[in-house]
Amino acid sequence: MSLVIGIVVLFLSFVFYKYFRYAKYMQKQLRNIPAPAGLPIVGHVLYFTNPKEILNDLIKMARDHDGFLKFHFFQVYTILVADAEKIEKILGTTRILHKSLEYNHFERWLGTGLLTSEPEKWRKTRKMLTPTFHFQILEQFIDIYNSASRVLVDKLLKKADGKKFDVYPDVTLCTLDVICETAMGTSVNAQRHSNSVYVKSVQIMNEIIRTRLFSPLKRFDFVYYLSPEYRMEKKALATIHGYTMSVIKKRKRELELNGNLIQDCNGENKKRLAFLDLLLQCELDGKPLTNEEIREEVDTFMFEGHDTTASAIAFSLHCLAENPHAQDQAVKELLEIFTSKDEHITYAHLQQMKYLEKVMKEVLRLYPSVPMFGRQLEEDSEFEGEIIPKGVTLTIFPYGMHRDAKLYPDPEKFDPERFTLENQNKRNPFGYVPFSAGPRNCIGQRFAMLEMKTTLSNLIRNFEILPAEGYKPVLVPNVILKSLNGVEICLKERNF
Ligand code: HEM
Repeated sequence: MSLVIGIVVLFLSFVFYKYFRYAKYMQKQLRNIPAPAGLPIVGHVLYFTNPKEILNDLIKMARDHDGFLKFHFFQVYTILVADAEKIEKILGTTRILHKSLEYNHFERWLGTGLLTSEPEKWRKTRKMLTPTFHFQILEQFIDIYNSASRVLVDKLLKKADGKKFDVYPDVTLCTLDVICETAMGTSVNAQRHSNSVYVKSVQIMNEIIRTRLFSPLKRFDFVYYLSPEYRMEKKALATIHGYTMSVIKKRKRELELNGNLIQDCNGENKKRLAFLDLLLQCELDGKPLTNEEIREEVDTFMFEGHDTTASAIAFSLHCLAENPHAQDQAVKELLEIFTSKDEHITYAHLQQMKYLEKVMKEVLRLYPSVPMFGRQLEEDSEFEGEIIPKGVTLTIFPYGMHRDAKLYPDPEKFDPERFTLENQNKRNPFGYVPFSAGPRNCIGQRFAMLEMKTTLSNLIRNFEILPAEGYKPVLVPNVILKSLNGVEICLKERNF
């Protein structure tokens, strides 16, 4: 027995010795990078205990330290970056492509799909997937954006009595319908049947990941495995993976039966291909993708492609409600493009919506759907004259940088004119990164902008969007930017 105790004591002493040596090394290497006041050993944990305050606290600290400062949790270091020139040095290079440790929480769901993959696999997958986001493919999706947003209009007509309500859940179901149809070619009809087990499971997974990110203890796998959330995750993932896999297998069988032609349910050759159909025809290293590889990419689109756009559309409605002048301008533009509120939207129509595009860009400045994202250094790197050791996380903070008065004077003011070509050209392009930037930027950027435009133009043609009295969003960085008190607006039917 005493031998066992001796071995355990020896082992723990070794672990502590290594840990403190590592901590000392990190402190020395990063000594010239400023940090807010923290506690010994636990570091800056206390700044992250109240989700409601995180974004405001981080903005204040970023301002006090010129957009470049360090934090640590138990000596695991993160550098927060909210300065355009420094962000350019990180996102503009092909050397810093590794995602930070937080992305491990997604791995059981998304495997090593495009969002989470290591640089070596990522390079090949990104090259393979880029053509699937070609504008000719996206153009075919406009009908899907259109029909899903028509259902949303029908649902919201029932709420257009001038009374305030939270529009976020309705918008989320609409973007879920869009992503299911475009990614898998299946219609889950989330807007009509919001009790679908699949839809519920996707929502449960989003919630579980949020909980883990804000829990200092559940971040650690060994604590998380004992929690009720882990059991819920297992159930939700069985549903999600089971559904995606069954769709993949069904499509594969159809492809085998019909050769390269994919047919719709009436036996007609399909004019429109979902991402899944394109993935079934892709090759990696000269071989077709396995079912598991396809599933990881489809699930990645499902995750990245619906909550992000839902957040952007919902905050756009909030901004239009609060800024009647911008809404009037958008209506004026739509009146010049359309003859009626129900006229079907085409790609040519979307290209004419120049003012609405500026509105959307301004919304994503103030409410970037991904308020922060992380990269991890895989080698010691020279940065601003300092050698930053490998293992350090660099957290890019678009939400903070987009509210920096040096880049955007009077930053809290909603002003779409910041995005005229002339004004955009005056700024460093890395000073506006709602879709990230550089080689590992958002592959779905154009998809998202087209979907947002279609949905918003349908909503604006049908409704006057009015502010909800006494409402102010309480923003939290839940992976995706959310508001704890929902996104409240009032609607009245519009005479268009
Ligand atoms: C308003 C909507 C959207 C916003 C603001 C947004 C933002 C972002 C950001 C900031 C990243 C970089 C994340 C990181 O580096 O960790 C990203 C990556 C990604 N996004 Fe989006 N996104 C949106 C919509 C979409 C849509 C609709 C899709 C797919 C249909 C999509 C698919 C992806 C994928 C696959 C990646 C990983 C790219 C890579 O690592 O190569 N996104 N997105």
